[in-house]
Amino acid sequence: MNTTAPAAGDTASLLELGHQYYLPVYRPRELVLERGAGSRLWDSEGREYVDFAAGIAVCSLGHADPDLHAALVEQAGKVWHTSNIFYSEPPLRLAAELVGASRFAERVFFCNSGAEANEAAIKLVRKWAAARGRPPQQRVIVTFRGSFHGRTLAAVTATAQPKYQEGYEPLPGGFRYMDFNDIVQLETAMAAGDVAAVMLEPVQGEGGVVPAASGFLKQVRALCDRYDALLVLDEIQCGMGRTGTLFAHWQDDVVPDIVTLAKALGGGFPIGAMLAGPKVAQVMGVGAHGTTFGGNPLAAAVARVALRKLASPQIAANVSRQSHALREGLMAIGDETGVFAQVRGRGLMLGAVLGSEYAGRAGEILDHAAAHGLLLLQAGPDVLRLVPALNITDADVAEGLARLRKALAAFTGR
Ligand SMILES: Cc1ncc(COP(=O)(O)O)c(C=O)c1O
Repeated sequence: MNTTAPAAGDTASLLELGHQYYLPVYRPRELVLERGAGSRLWDSEGREYVDFAAGIAVCSLGHADPDLHAALVEQAGKVWHTSNIFYSEPPLRLAAELVGASRFAERVFFCNSGAEANEAAIKLVRKWAAARGRPPQQRVIVTFRGSFHGRTLAAVTATAQPKYQEGYEPLPGGFRYMDFNDIVQLETAMAAGDVAAVMLEPVQGEGGVVPAASGFLKQVRALCDRYDALLVLDEIQCGMGRTGTLFAHWQDDVVPDIVTLAKALGGGFPIGAMLAGPKVAQVMGVGAHGTTFGGNPLAAAVARVALRKLASPQIAANVSRQSHALREGLMAIGDETGVFAQVRGRGLMLGAVLGSEYAGRAGEILDHAAAHGLLLLQAGPDVLRLVPALNITDADVAEGLARLRKALAAFTGR
């Protein structure tokens, strides 16, 4: 085995390590990011990028935020890890702050990722139904086509997209899939009387940046109440200020029973959380669930600062301002180039849907964007996804759009 470290800045040999040693489940762009500040990043060759990806909607305060950095460094000098067998201060305070900010939850379970937060939610639903004396076949969880809930076996089964499930069968039972935004279909499914929960993203992310239709969440809440089921909201991507309010569902005017968070909660440091409302807060007792790293003091110390900043009116105002600028810019670029059929989304979670002529080619556009100094994401093969930091500046939005224009000119050859 070759253990020689590559020379600093030797990009080709660094890339070779990825090609040789990573399990080939990703196809990263061929560049190595080295440092960031705000919404700009630099690679190992010194090239600079505007960041409309934010580590997949994670770095919502940009890169190297001084307050997050200070919180991390301060905590690093105190204690890094205690496990959940002993208390430490940062997660205790974060728990109280998050519950208070949520407006509905009584308790929180900390974990390390989105999939784990959803895994906890799925288990909580099942325990709740079991505690009500419902047999296993009456503990069905309904999820929606196009959803994405993570990659653990239960979360990928909740994810109603065959491409993520193929080859992993047998999948856990007790999930049923419905069409997103189709309340009539959902009502028919729930009338069977075996549904314990409906789980959904207020704005589907990986599935193409598709917001719930106006009024849909309220109708789902009403059906859950009628058929004694829980409403579980996956705000892992759309939560923490991304759509213009700290929690996305505030805009839908519903009170959920469970909400899952991760991504932006730690501002770039891994942490997940499951928030539990009054119906379910007492359902899991000692030993019912657990994790070694969940509520890690380093993660919690950073998340406390991230939460305070992401909940601020300044962030909400900037999301609204930059959302408007990005939408306008994308629509203008769409008109000029003919590449986009539609721009959709909420706040700073936006999708540019490719026209039929360009269907399936989002990945190619991402390559052109990176070559022109812009980091973008896709949401499936047909949608460009923009989830920049929520504190992105006017100048960075304008520069990112200018680079997108050039990238699309190279892509279309016009
Ligand atoms: C809505 C949603 N739920 C769950 C997940 C899974 O989160 P993680 O990758 O942290 O496990 C994601 C990740 O993209 C997500 O967007």
